[in-house]
Amino acid sequence: MTIGILGIGKLGLCFGLNLERAGYTVVGVDISESYVKQLNDKSFCSYEPQVNEWLQHARHLTVHTQIDQVLIEPISLTFVMVATPSLPDGGYDHSQIERVVEQLIVFGHTVQRVDLVIGCTVMPGYCDTLQERLAPFNYQVSYNPEFIAQGSIIHDQLYPDQILIGEADAAIGDALEAIYRNMCKSDFTVCRMNRISAEIAKLATNCFLTTKISFANSVGDLATTAGADAEKILEAIGADSRIGSKYLKYGFGFGGPCFPRDNRALNLFARNSGYNLLISEATDNVNRQHLQFQYEQYMKDYKPDEVIVFDEVVYKPGTVILEEAQPLELAKRLVKSGRKVLIKEKVAIIEELTKQYGSLFQYELKS
Ligand SMILES: NC(=O)c1ccc[n+]([C@@H]2O[C@H](COP(=O)([O-])OP(=O)(O)OC[C@H]3O[C@@H](n4cnc5c(N)ncnc54)[C@H](O)[C@@H]3O)[C@@H](O)[C@H]2O)c1
Repeated sequence: MTIGILGIGKLGLCFGLNLERAGYTVVGVDISESYVKQLNDKSFCSYEPQVNEWLQHARHLTVHTQIDQVLIEPISLTFVMVATPSLPDGGYDHSQIERVVEQLIVFGHTVQRVDLVIGCTVMPGYCDTLQERLAPFNYQVSYNPEFIAQGSIIHDQLYPDQILIGEADAAIGDALEAIYRNMCKSDFTVCRMNRISAEIAKLATNCFLTTKISFANSVGDLATTAGADAEKILEAIGADSRIGSKYLKYGFGFGGPCFPRDNRALNLFARNSGYNLLISEATDNVNRQHLQFQYEQYMKDYKPDEVIVFDEVVYKPGTVILEEAQPLELAKRLVKSGRKVLIKEKVAIIEELTKQYGSLFQYELKS
């Protein structure tokens, strides 16, 4: 079976490699010519574990720059995995998907019906609008987001807890379920529903996780203020099987490319729907309150001339992502208050920090 992937970036490439290893022929499309060349001649180098090695061995993965090169092949199932950056109002920018849709419309009515499966994070309701626009051209639109974290994308795709499918009809739901049963190695739950329910479920899952992280940090800050043991308290709470210990640690607030964005997007969708989703606002406020609490603790705990050492400032250890990274936010606040901060990081991160902040921090290469 041949599967198409439109937008074969961080998520799409890992998905394509996993599919290829599961026995599918994968045909990708990406607008970046130099990137496509690197993928095809296998010179592309990724920070994601396993990607470089698997790319070397991929025999049934080809990538093109033109969408029609994929549409002329006998492909009935095509995933869309282009980027959806955040807009200033907290919503998702669908313009890259729109460009794909425009190209499909220009290509015209397809002979055989094509199932488009949107894997991007989108605002709830968006896939229903796509279905309406693309139905006259013989496309059917489903929604199938991924719950993965950068730094472990291949692994997370292979070992999911749940597969979320917003299906256009039962046949495509069955087809997607069969693909995941073939590809994944975990005993996952398949959650099938209509498109808008799946779009809300994707954002709400991350809203729940941000809530859990904010809860843990609030209880931790309270414990610290009261002179109690934050770790012991959270361990006790997490031991309750109704709650669980995952994401219930006292540490930095949530950050990175997914959690804060999904939390804000869900809030915007709720407001636009006429519902005030207080929980996502509270979660965001707690994240800010916790950063301020940490800042005050550091200012108290370190003498003014003491060098404060940060072992990694990325949003999650092991990644190279600085987007809304809370350790970096804290380090910035401390230097702005005149404190000396030494950051121990990987070479790529030091280069990026130097580009963005010059000599604001002291740097040391992490071994
Ligand atoms: N990366 C993550 O951690 C993560 C996690 C969960 C969900 N997501 C979602 O997955 C989607 C993809 O994210 P990503 O991180 O892989 O993005 P990315 O920027 O790494 O990849 C997107 C790719 O699409 C290509 N592209 C753009 N326009 C195109 C077009 N018209 N035709 C063909 N290719 C085109 C780009 O060149 C790029 O290679 C986003 O909606 C994102 O929110 C990402």
